[in-house]
Amino acid sequence: MLENIKQTATYLKNKIGDVPNTAIILGTGLGELAHEIEDKNEIPYTEIPNFPVSTVEGHSGKLIIGTLGGKKVVAMQGRFHYYEGYDMKQVTFPIRVFKALGIEYLFVSNAAGGMNPSFDIGDIMLIEDHINLFPEHPLHGKNHNELGTRFPDMSEAYSKELRLMAMEIARQKNIKLQHGIYVGVQGPTFETPAEYNFFRIIGGDAVGMSTVPEVIVANHARMKVLAFSIITDLGVIGKIVEVSHEDVQEAARIAQPKMAEIMRTIMQKIG
Ligand code: HPA
Repeated sequence: MLENIKQTATYLKNKIGDVPNTAIILGTGLGELAHEIEDKNEIPYTEIPNFPVSTVEGHSGKLIIGTLGGKKVVAMQGRFHYYEGYDMKQVTFPIRVFKALGIEYLFVSNAAGGMNPSFDIGDIMLIEDHINLFPEHPLHGKNHNELGTRFPDMSEAYSKELRLMAMEIARQKNIKLQHGIYVGVQGPTFETPAEYNFFRIIGGDAVGMSTVPEVIVANHARMKVLAFSIITDLGVIGKIVEVSHEDVQEAARIAQPKMAEIMRTIMQKIG
């Protein structure tokens, strides 16, 4: 694994030149944020050595290097989901490569079902913390001390400093920003009403099928994380309706300019 990380990082370094300090993962339906990235150079995952290839509909699978808010950034359009059959080392491989490149900040976005009764479809939820319910842990197995410590601290998995910045920007720009706990599950089924209720009872505000593995590895690598869920459907008793992947993509697409605005403004401050 260490060799693969080095090889991929070297390949990207040669392509990218000056390495940005921030990487962004664009979640389901959030690929349009890529349009806001300027002076772009795109590299399909198929051309990147050792990168898994993304398959699911709505994830085109490329790395976009460009500027956002005047600062250089690398964005993943399309991520690797556990439910697609990748193992956790593959799901989190890009994060290892970002760290090897010297990237310090990871911005993550996803589409999620909202369990908090005060949420509406199209809301943006700033992730404050998570509950990991994936059946496999991304750090399972031998620990490579070069990559991080055996028992990583997770007391501030989502950087408080970045969260406060996001909240302040949302307030200034009049963007409605919810906040809460993200429950990470393997999918690919959406939840039964009983499962949504269970996730609410254990302390969740939103549930989705991504993000947690990448955020764990980013913390192992001591990167600072900022993450948002777009609430694309509701797992609230009395409000649960049939969900489709298309509905999820559409709700995410509508909410994404506001999330992009917050990310762009933070980039200006941290770059
Ligand atoms: N559950 C799990 N994942 C999701 C959901 C959901 O309701 N909506 C979007 N991704």
